[in-house]
Amino acid sequence: MAQMRLLVKGAAQVVRVAAAGEKVKLKDAMSDLAIVNATQREGVSIAVNRDGTIAAVGLDSEVADMFPGASWETVIDAHGRSVVPGLVDAHTHPVWAGDRVHEFAMKLAGASYMEVHAAGGGINFTVEHTRAASEQELLDLLLPRLRRMSSAGTTLVECKSGYGLDASTELKMLRVLEKARPRASLAISSTFCGAHSVPRGMTADEATRSVIEDQIPAIKAAMKSGELNVDSIDVFCEKGVFSVDQTKRILEAGKREGLLINFHAEELHPLKSAEMGAALGAEAMSHLEEVSEEGIEAMARAGTVGVLLPTTAHILRLPPPPARAMIDAGVPVALGTDFNPNAFCLSMPLVMHLACVILKMSLSEALTAATLHAAHSLRKAHAHGSIEPGKYADLVIVDAPRWEHLVYQLGGTDHVISHVIKAGAVVHERK
Ligand code: NIG
Ligand code: FE
Repeated sequence: MAQMRLLVKGAAQVVRVAAAGEKVKLKDAMSDLAIVNATQREGVSIAVNRDGTIAAVGLDSEVADMFPGASWETVIDAHGRSVVPGLVDAHTHPVWAGDRVHEFAMKLAGASYMEVHAAGGGINFTVEHTRAASEQELLDLLLPRLRRMSSAGTTLVECKSGYGLDASTELKMLRVLEKARPRASLAISSTFCGAHSVPRGMTADEATRSVIEDQIPAIKAAMKSGELNVDSIDVFCEKGVFSVDQTKRILEAGKREGLLINFHAEELHPLKSAEMGAALGAEAMSHLEEVSEEGIEAMARAGTVGVLLPTTAHILRLPPPPARAMIDAGVPVALGTDFNPNAFCLSMPLVMHLACVILKMSLSEALTAATLHAAHSLRKAHAHGSIEPGKYADLVIVDAPRWEHLVYQLGGTDHVISHVIKAGAVVHERK
């Protein structure tokens, strides 16, 4: 008799997003969500193995027939509800002390992001506070943020360092992420972003050398000793921060140590950093508000994921990134919250809403971007991002018969999400 962890049954619809093992769904395929709908007579079930992976998806009777006499640790009746894959947040900066609510008011009054940055605010303000905070203080600030992400449906999140800008603080931030892993109700992919800003008192060239000669070797040693697991390397490539050439040198140094390339490109000024990243074979690039047509073509050819962050365009009143042109050209488009002290957003459903309204993506495209493609940007689509046998049972149960309520009910996740499930375990349940 099979011992199983979880049975979700009776659902009105299960939105699988992918059903044939595909890691990206390009162009029109991005809108095909592989939905299994209930019939007049029966609902849809998902069976989960004891190791937290999906065993089967299908109509209730089909799944019941596959596991005769099985004992289920948990059974959830999802009548009248829909199920989508756990959401994947492809871009966040969640480890920091010192919020910047005062800058929000300045920006609303007309100051630009780079004016605040040049006046000593912005990233360097957060750096001062993060350097001064202890590891425990940073962990205590991080864990509730991760909990809020999880209760809004996120089950895998990319988390960057980048408010240290020196080896010891960058290592401290990455250790905080490492300590959070076993205590968090979502999976973490960590990214080293020591080149997030030029520290006070240094030139960009000196900062580039510090990243390549001090920080990367320190991280390499911590990875070798098993103290840290770091997946990707990031740089803020921007006029007045790191140039395209400096960015390239840093990314190449990270790549030599086995890190995936996933960086901030073309946010405020068109620099042709997307072309450079594609030539390096970057796994992902974020922002891309100012990407050129050639940059889009190069990304499509290289298979680089475009991680779009509509909160940034919304808060900074920037022209939005050309999502439609990217999708039409065959770039795998993903989404992220960009949670950071500039853009304080922890909710992927809210980001999906902004993606639909501001970036003109369809609801289906937004879901593929917030699940499968976001997982692929982290090269984790073999295990996350869709409801398919063999992948982790990361699920969001939406208390409505059509999944679109998750996005349609703007700011309504507390009400509309009934369960968040991580590897077959319920990590959030609506009161
Ligand atoms: O993705 N642009 C650079 N990095 C962040 C902002 C970080 C901050 O302002 O603290 C971003 O928007
Ligand atoms: Fe960012």
